[in-house]
Amino acid sequence: MKPAYSSHLSPLYSLVLALCLCLVALPSMAADKDEETSAIERGAYLMKIGDCVACHTAVGGRELTGGLPFETPFGPVYSTNITSDKDTGIGNYSYDDFYDAMHHGVGINGNLYPAMPYTSYSLLTDEDTRAIYAYLMSTKPIKQANLDNDVSFPFNLRFGLKGWNLIAHDAKVFKPNNAKSESWNRGNYLVNALGHCGECHTPRDTLYAMEPDKHFQGAIIEGLEASDITPSELNRQNWTHEDLNNLFTEGYSRKGTVFGGMYPVVYHSFSHLTDTDMLAVSRYLLDTDDNIEPQKLTFNGHNPKLPGYPLYKGYCAGCHGQNGEGRPNVAPAMAGNATLDKASPHNVVAVILKGIDSQHYNSTTSFYAMPGYAKELDEEQIKDLANYLRLTWSNQPANLDIKTIRNVKETVFSHN
Ligand code: HEC
Ligand code: HEC
Ligand code: HEC
Repeated sequence: MKPAYSSHLSPLYSLVLALCLCLVALPSMAADKDEETSAIERGAYLMKIGDCVACHTAVGGRELTGGLPFETPFGPVYSTNITSDKDTGIGNYSYDDFYDAMHHGVGINGNLYPAMPYTSYSLLTDEDTRAIYAYLMSTKPIKQANLDNDVSFPFNLRFGLKGWNLIAHDAKVFKPNNAKSESWNRGNYLVNALGHCGECHTPRDTLYAMEPDKHFQGAIIEGLEASDITPSELNRQNWTHEDLNNLFTEGYSRKGTVFGGMYPVVYHSFSHLTDTDMLAVSRYLLDTDDNIEPQKLTFNGHNPKLPGYPLYKGYCAGCHGQNGEGRPNVAPAMAGNATLDKASPHNVVAVILKGIDSQHYNSTTSFYAMPGYAKELDEEQIKDLANYLRLTWSNQPANLDIKTIRNVKETVFSHN
């Protein structure tokens, strides 16, 4: 009698079975592959918006191999190699390890310093964290050992960061606000999770944690002020969706240019936003989906009697224009310039003192470098000039005194 079950299948039957299995397996394998490819592609985009390359690449170094120093109040901390190299990079990180690094600031070798903005990335969705992981694991492994940090005691004990995390880090999940549009919520996510804009624009408390109730109200960073970018302040300065779009794409707009720490953010990161995401960002920042009408740029007319008038004509008008109208490919307009129209005079004084290095904007526009005048002009002249600019081209009062100029000077030159 033939056994009901044979462990030896006939060769023909095996072939048919194998073919059938293949037909079932092939499409699903192809689908997996597609999914992986699209995750890697999405990861590449998200990495740009998260600005990972800018921080994880040393000047002149190879991409993602780390070694860029970050000044912290406790000493310099260096970014690390996050290529897929198993010895010196993160090739040995499982997805869960990576999730912990991104959301909780806990790496394979212990707690991470918050110079790595996990306090913002903790808002990333699981799906996006996975896409970034897929992308990083697809990178070429590059062997390059990490640098030792020079952080002073007791902050050199990574153990202490555990305590810091307990008090200062709240790994919140991103929650959409149902009263707002989908686009507004997308903007909120891009700005606060991936864009980590608050890391510069939100003031920090004595524990070096971002203060949630002062979200985006402005903070000093490397001698400049990462301005107040709350919706009420941006709306008061009459930023439109188009202005912000231009600022984040080109680095300049009707309202002026970006400089200092804001320039690399635009150049490496936000200029890569898709059009839909760009609009989402400005809808969130301006807290409206509605169109905003651009008002006429402010020019209150010259007052030749003021001591700032001859200073402006003598030192500045050659580049910024007799009436502050700016000159194409030389310098931006003073009329309507948001740097003058801020309640805080910090940046206008800082720029006059220190100048701005030459920056590239796009293929058709570049501006000159702006010289610094700390040596040429004394504090009295800088006060007169800054007052003149604010009175003439913004709605701010001419109320700066010598003490203000001195304070800004101190802050600007305590950072080189
Ligand atoms: C503002 C600068 C900055 C940005 C932006 C940044 N990182 Fe980091 N990252 C750091 C620093 C500094 C460290 C090292 C911290 C330490 O040693 O404690 C680090 C560490 C890490 C680690 C731990 C690696 C290890 O060596 O164990 C991972 C993973 C990581 N970053 C991934 C990312 C990803 C992904 C992005 C973009 C979404 C990103 N980082 C963006 C500064 C940054
Ligand atoms: C590394 C620090 C840093 C980060 C991160 C950063 N900014 Fe800024 N930002 C600055 C500084 C400094 C200024 C002031 C100089 C200037 O006006 O460009 C500024 C200015 C601005 C301005 C006002 C520009 C003007 O002309 O008045 C806007 C709007 C802005 N940032 C939005 C953002 C957004 C959105 C993000 C997140 C994608 C972001 N910033 C991230 C440092 C930063
Ligand atoms: C050689 C040309 C040149 C001269 C002279 C010059 N500037 Fe500028 N200025 C520039 C350029 C270029 C920028 C924009 C730089 C950038 O952001 O890339 C700028 C930016 C500024 C800004 C910031 C504006 C913004 O877009 O946010 C202020 C304020 C300013 N200048 C004031 C002055 C004053 C006051 C003087 C005279 C004491 C002066 N500048 C002289 C070229 C010049």
